[in-house]
Amino acid sequence: MPLRVAFFDTKPYDREYFAHAPATAGLDLRFLDHRLSESTVATAESAGAVCCFVNDRLDRATLTHLQQTGVRHVALRCAGFNNVDLAAAKELSLTVTRVPAYSPHAVAEHTIALLLTLNRKIHRAHNRVREQNFSLSGLVGFDLHGKTAGIVGTGKIGKIAAEILRGFGMRVLACDPFPDASWAAQHRVSYVSKAELFAASDVISLHSPLTPETHHLVNEPSLAAMKRGAYLVNTSRGKLIDTAALIEALKSGRVGGVALDVYEEEEGVFFEDHSDRVLADDELARLLTFPNVLITAHQAFLTREALAEIARVTTENLQRHAAGQKFLEGTQLA
Ligand code: NAI
Repeated sequence: MPLRVAFFDTKPYDREYFAHAPATAGLDLRFLDHRLSESTVATAESAGAVCCFVNDRLDRATLTHLQQTGVRHVALRCAGFNNVDLAAAKELSLTVTRVPAYSPHAVAEHTIALLLTLNRKIHRAHNRVREQNFSLSGLVGFDLHGKTAGIVGTGKIGKIAAEILRGFGMRVLACDPFPDASWAAQHRVSYVSKAELFAASDVISLHSPLTPETHHLVNEPSLAAMKRGAYLVNTSRGKLIDTAALIEALKSGRVGGVALDVYEEEEGVFFEDHSDRVLADDELARLLTFPNVLITAHQAFLTREALAEIARVTTENLQRHAAGQKFLEGTQLA
């Protein structure tokens, strides 16, 4: 009997890359458009496993329902797992796996793309030129060379972002509860406290996971401690930033520019076409009015290499689960 897998929140690119994954024998992949939550969990009917993404909600009630319908494996096709109640999963004897590192380069490179676009106003220049407006007024940026970047979280992605920024000739500061001294020495990166990083950086980039400790890491006090006019980039998780406080800091000019690939309330908005609807989220609507705010809809991971690796690791783990074998190293959370 093939293992039936209910895939939630799938898009055409997921289907394409999973259909071409090297190891799909013995798997019956059922692709669903909607997100997983308590109200949609019944659609996992007769599945032995579910495959979920960043905005599927795997709380205790949903996990309990999944377990009762016969699901034994929750395979996350992402790195972050803040949307899963792991304690509940363990109590329910549900196995949870993820893809810890499909392409840290994809996310780090998108971070730099956002920073360069924001700083050199490429998005605004592109729109102007298409309207045959060749004026340069309002497009002044600054040299990254010689400026200071602050990297919050020097894991896989933060390290690559730091190395790229060092390549631009930036001074790079970092903070992390688990500093990597030999990497820092090799790349001439200096670990400092979070307070020092916020006070000294011209550009701050967030690369720490979302945990109770990092929730609203960027808030009114930390924004007030930033250099006036500094830039903030977040490609990690939206809830690292208190959006209301960020809007106030933008209005006052305290923050010079903001680039976001993630947003505090992105669930139900990002990944979908809402162009013919009224935007109900007032904070997102306000953010979109600032000329110095650049937003992409959680696409930092979206490269061919990352999609292929996500599909390879996830299907391999699903097959291993079906065969009662050990999971790929470092992928099991519960
Ligand atoms: P990682 O686990 O390799 O590194 C995270 C680092 O953050 C670790 O070194 C950890 O010690 C550090 N950290 C933890 N708490 C901290 C704190 N309070 N202050 C500063 N640093 C702290 O994770 P990786 O692969 O680098 O990913 C980072 C985050 O990027 C993920 O948690 C995920 O939320 C996000 N992500 C976003 C994607 C996107 O498409 N926008 C795609 C993939 C990941």
